[in-house]
Amino acid sequence: MNRVTVRLPGEGVDRSYEVVVGSGALALLDGLLDALDTSPKRIAVVSQAGLPVTVSSTRECHRFMIGDGEHHKTLDTIQELCRGFASAGITRNDVVVAVGGGMVTDVAGFAAASYHRGIRVVHVPTTLLGMIDAAIGGKTGVNLPEGKNLVGAFWQPSGVLCDLDVLSTLPDREVRCGNGEMAKYHFLTGENLSALNLGERVARCVEIKAEVVASDERESGRRAILNYGHTLAHALETASEHRLAHGEAVAIGLLFAARLAERLGRISSERVEQHRIVIEDDYGLATTIPQVASPAEFVALMGRDKKAVDGLTFVLDGPSGIEVVANVDAVVVRELLDELVGS
Ligand code: GLY
Repeated sequence: MNRVTVRLPGEGVDRSYEVVVGSGALALLDGLLDALDTSPKRIAVVSQAGLPVTVSSTRECHRFMIGDGEHHKTLDTIQELCRGFASAGITRNDVVVAVGGGMVTDVAGFAAASYHRGIRVVHVPTTLLGMIDAAIGGKTGVNLPEGKNLVGAFWQPSGVLCDLDVLSTLPDREVRCGNGEMAKYHFLTGENLSALNLGERVARCVEIKAEVVASDERESGRRAILNYGHTLAHALETASEHRLAHGEAVAIGLLFAARLAERLGRISSERVEQHRIVIEDDYGLATTIPQVASPAEFVALMGRDKKAVDGLTFVLDGPSGIEVVANVDAVVVRELLDELVGS
């Protein structure tokens, strides 16, 4: 097993937690719960129907199923869960165990953050994307009709169990989505992640994310680099009405961000080619920008990105590495989109 600590010192309380990555990690759940400061009597397992993962525990175990898809990522689902917790007698000393992909850990995490003004949560991500991104770092939340993840809380888990065995049953599309996020990590530190096997690579991605989160838990600055490739990705998800999944959109957004950085004189064409090789050749991901919106519509959508506080904001590669760049010239962005959309 690989163990990565997310170091989060607080005032008088150490909120650090461990992410365990390895084959059979799921079996460590009871040990993790035993080791908590005040061990819970009950667990509230939040999951979805049809997942090939069953959590077992010696504790009193209450199970709650939530629906699949973004349209279930709502405040109504939070209310249903919290009412279910109350009916089951879940107390503030008990623990929510979120078993599923990013949608499940986001929703169950927010229910845990809200119930009794906050009870502990353990994440058991069952997708690659969940393991290397959604379950790490404490972002939780749900959508509003006005936009994605507009209501939520930073609520760090008490532990995360990434059982690599569950990845063997992952549908191809889920693998692609995980690979889109994984490709991002290749550029954050500049090291050669391709040389690692899957388990080592998942653990290294977790380590990279843990280090960034530890340095800026509430995204007042540096944490935003984790959104590399996400500015165009979010616009693509919205314009395609989520027919394009997050990781697929991130793959397209990463190569676009590299091309934009080149156009702005920040990186060389060789560096763009390195991006293309990782995304297309190593991970086999598509990078053509689909015609789900016109270039002008993409620019408008990116201008409304919730990260954009100052004009068009991108996370871009450059001489000092990956960083947030505000006020990117909309004319340059538009010209590049004119060349690339659909081609
Ligand atoms: N998914 C980006 C972050 O956790 O900050």
